[in-house]
Amino acid sequence: MSASARTKRRVTILGSTGSIGCNTAELLAAEPEIYAVEALVASRNAEKLAEQAKALKAKFAVVAEEGQYRALKDALAGSGIAAAAGTAAVVEAAQRPADWVMAAIVGAAGLAPTLAAVRRGAIVALANKEVMVCAGELVTAEAKAHGARLLPVDSEHNAIFQVFDSAQRHAIEKIVLTASGGPFRKTSLEAMASATPAQAVAHPNWRMGAKISVDSATMMNKGLEVIEAHHLFDLPSGQLDIVVHPQSVVHGLVYYTDGSVLAQLGSPDMRTPIANALGWPDRIPAPSPRLDLAKLAQLTFEAPDPERFPALRVARAALVTGGGAPTVLNAANEIAVAAFLDEQIGFLDIAATVERTLDRLPHRRIDALEDVYALDREARATARALIGEGARRAARA
Ligand SMILES: NC(=O)c1ccc[n+]([C@@H]2O[C@H](COP(=O)([O-])OP(=O)(O)OC[C@H]3O[C@@H](n4cnc5c(N)ncnc54)[C@H](OP(=O)(O)O)[C@@H]3O)[C@@H](O)[C@H]2O)c1
Repeated sequence: MSASARTKRRVTILGSTGSIGCNTAELLAAEPEIYAVEALVASRNAEKLAEQAKALKAKFAVVAEEGQYRALKDALAGSGIAAAAGTAAVVEAAQRPADWVMAAIVGAAGLAPTLAAVRRGAIVALANKEVMVCAGELVTAEAKAHGARLLPVDSEHNAIFQVFDSAQRHAIEKIVLTASGGPFRKTSLEAMASATPAQAVAHPNWRMGAKISVDSATMMNKGLEVIEAHHLFDLPSGQLDIVVHPQSVVHGLVYYTDGSVLAQLGSPDMRTPIANALGWPDRIPAPSPRLDLAKLAQLTFEAPDPERFPALRVARAALVTGGGAPTVLNAANEIAVAAFLDEQIGFLDIAATVERTLDRLPHRRIDALEDVYALDREARATARALIGEGARRAARA
């Protein structure tokens, strides 16, 4: 389809200065005649945000951290772009009239603005998996009520989205998410116990933000993705599988009852799933490296190791338990990952902290958004307390 025949889109990026946000901004910048940018949102990186806002001619730029307001305002002086700061301004950015919103804030902090976009009935490209883990049922119900379209951007979910034949839902046996296995795929438990943040964020195939990189190293990322897939494709735990595929070329597969398996392949480059969501329902160009299968020569697959990656079991159990368990899982994991990056706890303590937090807060109900926020706060406080208890024990030993 020629560029002139394509639908013009007004776009907002929540989390524009991050890894997904920058890849999205790159695609928008390549076709300024198609995309008009409404708003860009970051947490604290005012300098990068202002640079993006000017390059993309955005109307509105927001930093969540109020202390960064002055820096943003100064950097945008004379540009005509409005600047704002604070969590209410982040939600306001999502409420502004964009047809397509990239939800790429990291963590549950993305919930309120993502919901604001959903409640306008926007097309929401969903990179932020934590939103679906902590409030999947509410987000999908709101999307249905307001006619919003949720498009998966996570490479595995986007792959499945591309080969999931909704008209043949009855003939779908299961879906399979591939996992690279992360930087510790072959590392012993002993070595993992002393792994440093620098080792954990050194992902073999993908360049991503620090939090998701650590999640990939613990494989909690795949656990979060199973929960995300449950909500996006409306399938129970028993129809959601994981296979380790170190080359990250096959991203997701759908098994049908006639024995056919449909998969999506591509180089490990997030610009492909982002472009798939940005152009949807059309396909648009993306500059990702093209696959050369002969050069790749080998694609390998193996089962994940439940002993070295207990996060997979913990996340699966939270999905099966349901109610507030995934909300607790996500909040505790965010706290534990931050504590690991801050060198307060060891690598193996991440999954252990999440599991203990779940043990302390069993069987919580989620009926409304307020329940999600309250449980998220309680789980964060519990995980912090557990980390503090561990530190005091270690100091006494
Ligand atoms: N990176 C990938 O390849 C990839 C793949 C699949 C899914 N995802 C998912 O996509 C999301 C983003 O990942 P990422 O790797 O792009 O993360 P990242 O590089 O850490 O970027 C996070 C973005 O969110 C902003 N942000 C953080 N907290 C915020 C808050 N409270 N309010 C407003 N903005 C906030 C950051 O702003 P500052 O720059 O100012 O801190 C940044 O723009 C995550 O949920 C991740 O799991 C990522």
